[in-house]
Amino acid sequence: MVQILDGKKVAEALYQEVAEAIARQPAPRPPALAVVLVGANPASQTYVATKERRCQEVGIRSVRLNLPEHVSQEELLAQVIALNADPGIDGILVQLPLPSHLSADQVIDCLNPAKDVDGLHPLNMGKLLLGHTDGFVPCTPQGVVWLLERHGIVLRGRRIVIVGRSNIVGKPLAALLLRRGIDATVTVAHSQTADLAALTREAEILVVAAGQPHLVRAEMISQGTVVVDVGIHRVQGRLTGDVDYESVAPKCSAISPVPGGVGPLTIAGLLHNTLLAWRRKL
Ligand SMILES: NC(=O)c1ccc[n+]([C@@H]2O[C@H](COP(=O)([O-])OP(=O)(O)OC[C@H]3O[C@@H](n4cnc5c(N)ncnc54)[C@H](OP(=O)(O)O)[C@@H]3O)[C@@H](O)[C@H]2O)c1
Repeated sequence: MVQILDGKKVAEALYQEVAEAIARQPAPRPPALAVVLVGANPASQTYVATKERRCQEVGIRSVRLNLPEHVSQEELLAQVIALNADPGIDGILVQLPLPSHLSADQVIDCLNPAKDVDGLHPLNMGKLLLGHTDGFVPCTPQGVVWLLERHGIVLRGRRIVIVGRSNIVGKPLAALLLRRGIDATVTVAHSQTADLAALTREAEILVVAAGQPHLVRAEMISQGTVVVDVGIHRVQGRLTGDVDYESVAPKCSAISPVPGGVGPLTIAGLLHNTLLAWRRKL
C-alpha cells in the first residue's frame, strides 16, 4: 500500500515543538518576526495571513509592514535596513514575489544574515553549501527533509533526483541532502536536462519542484519510488502539484499530496528559523 506523506500532521508536531521551546526558554520577550508585504497580490496576502496566524499560535509576535505596490527600490531597502537595526525584531521575511520593478536579489542581499529567517541571503546559502550549521536553511528544502525523515524514509546513501534548480528550492535542497548526517546521493535536473524520464526512473526518491502542473507522469517513475511534490498550482479552481497524482501514486511506495504535503512544512521552517534567530540573540 502506498504511504501518504502527511505534511499537515508533521507540521502540527513541529508547531507544537516550537511552541514548547518558546514557552520553556527564559527570555525578556517573545520572538518577533517582521513580515514585509509589498502590494496586494492575493496569493501573497493569503500566505502572509497564514504565516501570521501560525506565528500567533506558537507564541511568535509578528509585525506586518505593508508597502504600496509602487514603492521604490530605495524605500524598500530603507525599510529593510531599519528592521535590520531594530533590536526588537529577530527575523525578517520579505514576501516574494515582489512587483516586477523591484529587485528581490538586492533586497535579499541587504538583509541582516542573522535575521534572514527565509535562509536566502548569500551568506546563509554559502554556509549551507559549506556544511556549516550556524546559518539558516531555506524553509521549503528544510520542509522536504522533515517530511521524509519524520515518515521514517531513509535518506543516507539513497539516489535522490530533484527536478528544478531554483534558488529557493532545488539548489538549497541539493546542498541540504548532501550534508554529512543526511548523506544522500543527489542529481539535479532542469529544463535543459536531456531525457528527463530516463533520469527520474533511476530515482529511489524523486523531488519535483519544476513549477509545471503534472509534469511527472506514471511512465517517468519506477515501481516503489518515493515521490515528493513541491509544486502548487490552481488548475480549474483546484490545487494541484507538479506530479500527476492519480497515475503516479499507485506506483509509489510513498507520495506527498498537494495540498497537505510540503506546503505546511514550509511554514514550520519559518517558525523554526525564527525561534533559532531569537535564541541566538539571547
Ligand atoms: N510548497 C511550498 O511551500 C512551495 C514553496 C516554494 C515553491 N513552491 C512551488 O514549487 C514549484 C517550483 O517553485 P520554484 O520557485 O522552485 O520554481 P522556479 O523558480 O520556476 O524553478 C523551476 C525549476 O524547474 C525547472 N523546470 C521547469 N520546467 C522543467 C521541465 N519541463 N523539465 C525539467 N525541469 C524543469 C526550471 O529549469 P531552468 O532552471 O532550466 O529554467 C527551474 O530550475 C512551483 O510550483 C512553486 O509554486 C511550493
